[in-house]
Amino acid sequence: MHELGRIEDLPESYRKDLTAQNLVPLWPSLRAVLPPGKPALRTQATCWSYPSLRPLLLQAGELTPIEKAERRVLVLANPGHGLEKMQASSTIYLGMQLLLPGEWAPAHRHTPNAVRMVVEGEGAYTTVEGEKCPMQRGDLILTPSGLWHEHGHDGDKPVVWLDVLDLPLIYHMETSYVQEGKRQTVASSEAECAYQQGGVTPAPMFNRSGKNYPMLRYPWVQVRAALESLAKAQPETQAVQVAYVNPETGADCQNILGFSALMLRAGETLKLPARSCAMVFHTIEGGAKISSDTAHFTLAEADTCCLPGYTTITLSNTQPNRASFIFIADDAPLQKKLGVYEVRT
Ligand SMILES: [Fe+2]
Repeated sequence: MHELGRIEDLPESYRKDLTAQNLVPLWPSLRAVLPPGKPALRTQATCWSYPSLRPLLLQAGELTPIEKAERRVLVLANPGHGLEKMQASSTIYLGMQLLLPGEWAPAHRHTPNAVRMVVEGEGAYTTVEGEKCPMQRGDLILTPSGLWHEHGHDGDKPVVWLDVLDLPLIYHMETSYVQEGKRQTVASSEAECAYQQGGVTPAPMFNRSGKNYPMLRYPWVQVRAALESLAKAQPETQAVQVAYVNPETGADCQNILGFSALMLRAGETLKLPARSCAMVFHTIEGGAKISSDTAHFTLAEADTCCLPGYTTITLSNTQPNRASFIFIADDAPLQKKLGVYEVRT
């Protein structure tokens, strides 16, 4: 590709005349916005160690009462985007949230979609549209766009979870806002029981659920059991991975971000194809070495990392004698809807 004219090549008076009329010449910036072959990626490979961030999160519990925080979160920010942007990738926000015994994070709803992956502790719950979702380690709980949600904690030790939101995208689109609400009346609990068995859904009097988000809690015990049975049934050459889906439609469980859980068998190494989406990895159990063309991380339990798209990624279980379990988030659902999703071989 030949070089194009630079901004400095233009007379200063001409540049001033353009600026005065809010005009910009395209050619000095054309290669930056349309680089050849591969996008210019701002997302940097970044890793956050849970044992390192945990004391700072607990300290936030002492420094800032919940009333002054509403959501007591340390954001896992990618330096490639600038820490102040509070984003892990171009579309993904990650935060570690702390709720102390007896605390309550008040009801609200907002346009960004959120999920919580429970990292530590017992006794907390999220109420979503009146459905009480207990929060146990490894559970995935959805609070999709527009649904009322609040968090409470009846246990006696701190509870920590990883929030994954599409906030950077929704904010960029100038569609991000919140509404405050009153404490919800719990109308049901354990509604996920409705979808405990694959292949069947509730159909009372031949009617299927018309809800956009029929399942709000994906209990880790069930997801783990699904992975274990897949591992037994599948050939060893096939990766043991499940996607979190809407059980009524089989589509991704949310519109913008996609979520899956991967089981690495003892001693297993997997090579993931180069895909156009950035990816987040979080270790639910065990540990893994994660390598891309530029980064090499070793994730222990509860650690989190983010890797940019367009690179192959190698995952190796660090546990010689047992399986490791990894939670994965990406924006593949969005990219597929927009027609920009690619897998490069
Ligand atoms: Fe929220």
